[in-house]
Amino acid sequence: MLLDDALRAVELVRGFAGPIVDVGSGGGSPGIPIAAALPEREVTLLEAERRKCDFLERWAPANATVVWGRAEEQETDAFGVALAKALGQPPVAAEWTLPLVRPGGAAVLWLGPSADLTAVAAVSERLGGAPPEVHDGLVVLRKVSPTPPGFPRRVGVAKKRPLA
Ligand SMILES: C[S@@+](CC[C@H](N)C(=O)[O-])C[C@H]1O[C@@H](n2cnc3c(N)ncnc32)[C@H](O)[C@@H]1O
Repeated sequence: MLLDDALRAVELVRGFAGPIVDVGSGGGSPGIPIAAALPEREVTLLEAERRKCDFLERWAPANATVVWGRAEEQETDAFGVALAKALGQPPVAAEWTLPLVRPGGAAVLWLGPSADLTAVAAVSERLGGAPPEVHDGLVVLRKVSPTPPGFPRRVGVAKKRPLA
């Protein structure tokens, strides 16, 4: 079930302090269930499409803020955790999430079982992240050093020219 799929990250997310961002929140998964399960945490629902933001505004719990924008245009090294489900191809999802996370935090990605983790590892290394770890079917990229100069790349570039 959709809700269970989002909530399986709760314990993992608890392990990383600081604000949480759901990148490409769409219809609110996983950001809204996570915000409801962790009411003491500040959650940003980041979404590129205005129409989807209007929907998110209606359903966001009190500890969640909706931001209309693209991952590539946000402040870097700001969040404790970045979440992404069905955001894009795995290397692209890694490139859009990791720059938002501060050292000590992590990106948590809902990827299919056939995802190429070698490619994800290569992207993570370029962006100050550790090799991927898999916890309960979720891929965790710990941020070990600040986002290097040159990232995030301009809007659209990660998709057009993936790092791996
Ligand atoms: C396939 S939907 C997945 C939505 C939700 N996470 C889910 O699992 O149901 C991907 C969403 O990411 C948004 N998106 C795509 N690229 C983005 C970017 N660079 N920054 C922010 N949002 C983006 C799209 O507008 C879309 O709503």
